[in-house]
Amino acid sequence: MKFFIDTADLDEIKQASDWGILAGVTTNPSLYAKTGGKLADFEDHMVKICKIVGEDVPVSAESTAETTEGMIAEGEHLASLAPNIVVKLPICEESLPATHKLAAEGIRVNMTLVFSAPQALLAARAGARYISPFVGRFDDIGDDGIEQLSTVVECVKNYDYGYWDEEGGPEIITASVRTPHHVTQAALLGADIATVPFGALKKCVHHPLTTEGLAKFAADWAKVTGEAK
Ligand code: G3P
Repeated sequence: MKFFIDTADLDEIKQASDWGILAGVTTNPSLYAKTGGKLADFEDHMVKICKIVGEDVPVSAESTAETTEGMIAEGEHLASLAPNIVVKLPICEESLPATHKLAAEGIRVNMTLVFSAPQALLAARAGARYISPFVGRFDDIGDDGIEQLSTVVECVKNYDYGYWDEEGGPEIITASVRTPHHVTQAALLGADIATVPFGALKKCVHHPLTTEGLAKFAADWAKVTGEAK
């Protein structure tokens, strides 16, 4: 499974990129707002992200247009900013034709706010390069996000779509990830990607037994060096 980072924070993206594990970045209007960024700086900010990660690493930039025509125009414009921009669109009646048109032009779409298998199957048929089912938001309402994800993965992987075959698409991005447990379960289900906020990504690195083991190694090594702590 590939790791994307779910943030618009440049420092977080730089740190995760330096770890050598980063295969992509996903942003959304809420994540950009969290950086304190203004509308006038939005495009520059997306370009900065693209430069940090390098042009082989896809960066999802979300369109806020509400009509098909608007999504196509905004999608074409966003995609022109950098070769690694992926246009993020919410699943809805307006975004399906927009996705179809953008895919025909070779522009990659990440279909977001996906909460059901039919939505995911429609996104795949329309030509989405990435499909983003949300996990944590199901948990928030007392449902089981991982069980919902498993249905989406199984349904989508049952078929070929004729789009993005040479790139191995459409790929499923597990989104709204909150915990290392979500990451494990997404990998067990064979989801292609997990997009993980930096805080949860750091939790994936750590384990209490690793911390304990390191402390013991350090204490024992201090006996060897005579530099007891
Ligand atoms: O990329 C969108 C998604 O990951 C949002 O997550 O935590 O706001 O549900 P969250």
